[in-house]
Amino acid sequence: MSAGHPSLGMKVSELPTPSLLLDLDAFDSNCAAISGHLGAHGVAWRPHVKGHKSPRLAQRMVEAGAIGVTCAKVGEAEVMVAGGITEILVANQPGTRDAWARLARLQSAAWVGVAIDNVEHVRLAVAAGAERGVMIPLLVEVDIGMDRAGVRSALDAVALAEEIVAAGGQFAGVMGYEGHLLTVWPEAEKETVIREAVGRLVSAADAIRAVSIPVPIVSCGGTGSYLISSRIEGVTELQAGGGCLMDRFYREVCHVDLEHALFLVASVNSRPSSSQAILDAGWKALPDKVAVPLCRDLPGVEVSQLYAEHMRLDLPPGVDPGIGERIVFIPGYSDATTVLHNEFLGLRDDTVVAVIPLVARGDLQ
Ligand SMILES: Cc1ncc(COP(=O)(O)O)c(C=O)c1O
Repeated sequence: MSAGHPSLGMKVSELPTPSLLLDLDAFDSNCAAISGHLGAHGVAWRPHVKGHKSPRLAQRMVEAGAIGVTCAKVGEAEVMVAGGITEILVANQPGTRDAWARLARLQSAAWVGVAIDNVEHVRLAVAAGAERGVMIPLLVEVDIGMDRAGVRSALDAVALAEEIVAAGGQFAGVMGYEGHLLTVWPEAEKETVIREAVGRLVSAADAIRAVSIPVPIVSCGGTGSYLISSRIEGVTELQAGGGCLMDRFYREVCHVDLEHALFLVASVNSRPSSSQAILDAGWKALPDKVAVPLCRDLPGVEVSQLYAEHMRLDLPPGVDPGIGERIVFIPGYSDATTVLHNEFLGLRDDTVVAVIPLVARGDLQ
């Protein structure tokens, strides 16, 4: 632990920088807003935790009504199970025997369903399960326009569901992700295209039911689409997670109206001229991937350049932060930001009340 490590009770203006901040009241309020909205529409909430990678925050989501969590990686799922989460969907397709052996091992402690899109996954899952005497629940991923993973048609979804059943596996449902449509605007057009895409997932589920295979789970959605996808008949659960942290991309590009809970505090290290300030957070702490971070504390001041370890702010007349002054930023994209940090400093008002490690950070396998 470095000498500059933050401690409980510190104010934001005293913190070593750069530090990642989480406003706990805003986080809880976002969880309540998403959970409440989904509950009102009869849809379960299984938030994606790839953004915060923290079992403690996952537990807060469960306390707010989540039925469990969604993970991208087997390593994330292992961390979540160790942290007491008992209902997990791994939304990516593991391709190696080792990964499937780990998924089989997890089944004794939790329900861990896995998205697949190929008969080879069925073989791997059934073989890994048989070795440990367990079943790994399998969901068929359907590509609903993203052109990423997933079977390409309802017909293919039916064929794969039938393969699972014929191989003695456990078919648990279907999943898709309308991630290519989050930025469509105006709202009416966004609704039309999301209804069409998610409709393809619901149709795949119906086609599977038509061959007498039950489809308990129809899972999709993210922060940028949950308000629309939750109102589509046939969807049983949604994966929106990052909205509990919030960022500039969700607000300005996806038009999501939740509270900013995630921030980064940096310090002014240099004032080379009256119109420029150089801060101690570059793209290694606050990346501009997907969207440029927003300066919360100095309205109208834009981040003009991010270097690896420096940020340059171009200052209008009258804006004159001193050396050592702390400045707070809203990340451009939360996912790309959190993964660069070991911990969130949990805040109430302006004071650190919790240090929350990103336990699954680096668990990319
Ligand atoms: C499979 C899947 N589900 C859901 C999401 C949405 O996550 P979030 O709500 O954190 O934006 C993503 C985002 O990449 C995803 O890949």
